[in-house]
Amino acid sequence: MANLKENNRDQWSSKLGFVLAAAGSAVGLGNLWRFPYTAGQNGGGAFVLVYFGILLLVGFTLMLAELLIGRHTQLNAVGAYRKIRKNWGWVGGIGVLASFLILSFYSVIGGWVINYLFKAATGAFTVPGTDMADLFVSFITNPGQPIIYHGIFAFLTLAIVMGGISGGIEKYSKILMPGLFVMMIVIMLRSVTLPGASEGIRFFLMPDFSKITGEVMLAALGQVFFSLSLGMGVIITYGSYLSKDENIPQSAMIIPLVDTGVALLAGLAILPAVFALGFSPDQGPALLFIILPAVFANMPLGTFFGVIFFLLVLFAALTSSISLLEASVSYIVDEFNWNRKKTALLLGLAVFLLGIPSSLAQGVWSHIEPFRELDILDSIDFVASNIMLPLSGFLLCIFIGWIWGIDEALKEATNKGKISFKLAGFWSFLIKWVAPIAILVVFFQGLK
Ligand code: PFF
Repeated sequence: MANLKENNRDQWSSKLGFVLAAAGSAVGLGNLWRFPYTAGQNGGGAFVLVYFGILLLVGFTLMLAELLIGRHTQLNAVGAYRKIRKNWGWVGGIGVLASFLILSFYSVIGGWVINYLFKAATGAFTVPGTDMADLFVSFITNPGQPIIYHGIFAFLTLAIVMGGISGGIEKYSKILMPGLFVMMIVIMLRSVTLPGASEGIRFFLMPDFSKITGEVMLAALGQVFFSLSLGMGVIITYGSYLSKDENIPQSAMIIPLVDTGVALLAGLAILPAVFALGFSPDQGPALLFIILPAVFANMPLGTFFGVIFFLLVLFAALTSSISLLEASVSYIVDEFNWNRKKTALLLGLAVFLLGIPSSLAQGVWSHIEPFRELDILDSIDFVASNIMLPLSGFLLCIFIGWIWGIDEALKEATNKGKISFKLAGFWSFLIKWVAPIAILVVFFQGLK
């Protein structure tokens, strides 16, 4: 994203640069941490099946929609809506607010990753007789330590955003993202070959249709939005840095494919091991941190693999968290003309403060359940991911399909007729009818 164009807006330096950054935003803790445990809590294969359905009908459709609006207007999410229709800015606002809430707990989990990187490096997983559940619980319930690590993660995020996303990230992504992919394959192979793993493979891949409930569908809907970074204005913002001759429909296909590939690998790395090692799949946010160290303990060169793995997870988490922070920073910089560095610093600090209750919720504040018997972290996640994001996605469909108009959208998608977009008719039908109706139905079924 190094070239400044005539209107002084950064642009991606290459097509690969953009795809990597967008994939970097999509691939993160959502795939590695959230997808496996949400699948584990929601019936395994049943969840995965519904996830795929929603991905095909809603995920691809909205990915393209957000990129289009972003590139068309060359603005942040709020400004983008407003430029097209004066009184629609608030829809972008819902997304920006959601991205901020999500970043607050995302940074807490990012802090856990940093701590686990140190644990891996000091050989903590390979000490014989270590109880991985104890190791994890004693860390996250501590009132002080996890907050320090959360602060480190928030600081890293804001430092990168302050420096501008340019140079570094694009360059490192080229090496580290494929590295993560290879690493996940290695871990997955170890996991599926553990004695007793087949029950977990079945759990993850064979849908039990009786388990498909409204709640499972809502969880899958929220996961699609979370994982693809949709509904938050992030993809709109990234689209705004795209050049006018980019083939957007093509990019809108590649990003969800890569993202889903990583999520499936993570599921296959974690869930078979859950069964093989005698754990239960529904333990929520702890899953990744308990299961994978146990897998490393069962692997030759476990310490080595553990360090590389948590390093790659940290990188994946940072490429996502910077995009989350970037959504609100670009909003404030564009709309209020604030200085970029100061904005990043202030918002980063606010994220840190807002994340503290989520961190304490693992221990001293675990009795506080603001919503549906969920602790503070899970409540914020539920409200942001399962309510605000689908709502913002639904409004996006209405906006494109019925307010801005399909013709305008298609002009942008085809670069005014210069490139062919074979699925134009199908996409139009999806964004006008199928996606908004699917979101509404799932939303109300799930909240009942
Ligand atoms: N998609 C990221 C993940 O799966 O970890 C998280 C995320 C990043 C969500 C950026 C939303 C977003 F705007």
